[in-house]
Amino acid sequence: MAEKPSRTRPLLVGNWKMNGLRASEAEVSALAKGLDGARADIWLCPPITLLSHFIGAFKGKPLSWGAQDCHAQESGAHTGDVSAEMLADVGAVSVIVGHSERRRDHAETNAMVRSKLSAVQRAGMVAIVCIGETLEERERGDVLPVLEKQLRESLPEEVDGSKTVLAYEPVWAIGTGKVPSGDEIVEVHGFLRERLDACGAAGVPILYGGSLGPSNADWLLRLDNVDGGLIGTASLKASSFLEVIRACQQG
Ligand code: PGA
Repeated sequence: MAEKPSRTRPLLVGNWKMNGLRASEAEVSALAKGLDGARADIWLCPPITLLSHFIGAFKGKPLSWGAQDCHAQESGAHTGDVSAEMLADVGAVSVIVGHSERRRDHAETNAMVRSKLSAVQRAGMVAIVCIGETLEERERGDVLPVLEKQLRESLPEEVDGSKTVLAYEPVWAIGTGKVPSGDEIVEVHGFLRERLDACGAAGVPILYGGSLGPSNADWLLRLDNVDGGLIGTASLKASSFLEVIRACQQG
């Protein structure tokens, strides 16, 4: 398994999904307290109900804020939806687009993900684009072709490297406690890196996501072409998120 020759500062994104109430502010306070000297950039994506409040409450802390989804339009008659401009207006700097749970629960297609990505960038934020294969696709031996298609169809022809982050999240690894082997992750990330380089997007960080937590962060975050992680369950508690963050400190 190859090691990174020289590591840039890793990016760790916490995705709270549909979890968190106002009382969860205590977890963010504990997280913020533990961030002194952290050797990683930390972005947190709480539910939309908490985003604006947290941004105000934790101003000046070494944390950046993101949302978990947005609408592709700037404004209009879309009851219940939130636009990228609204998220930027409250101080978000990033938005996750194309998470497999949105692809599954809301039938989001690659084309929709691509429009949302453009919306996020139009509003001046960074789009964190998620791709990943299902277990069935993996068992068929189709991992790379599936990712290639998702990548090609979800990203625009000209990728803005300063406003794009890619997250490889095998669907079967999300919330299951299962992760691919190091060799499998290195193969996929190497493939994605090559594809990004080929479309002039060499600067796009590639995160790994799916059951990334305290038990595997130390080896996983050291793999070649793994520039950080997208972390669900382990980001909900300050103690486990801080353990993952500390894994970036070693070595
Ligand atoms: P998990 O979720 O860390 O709970 O597996 C990751 C994600 O879905 O972003």
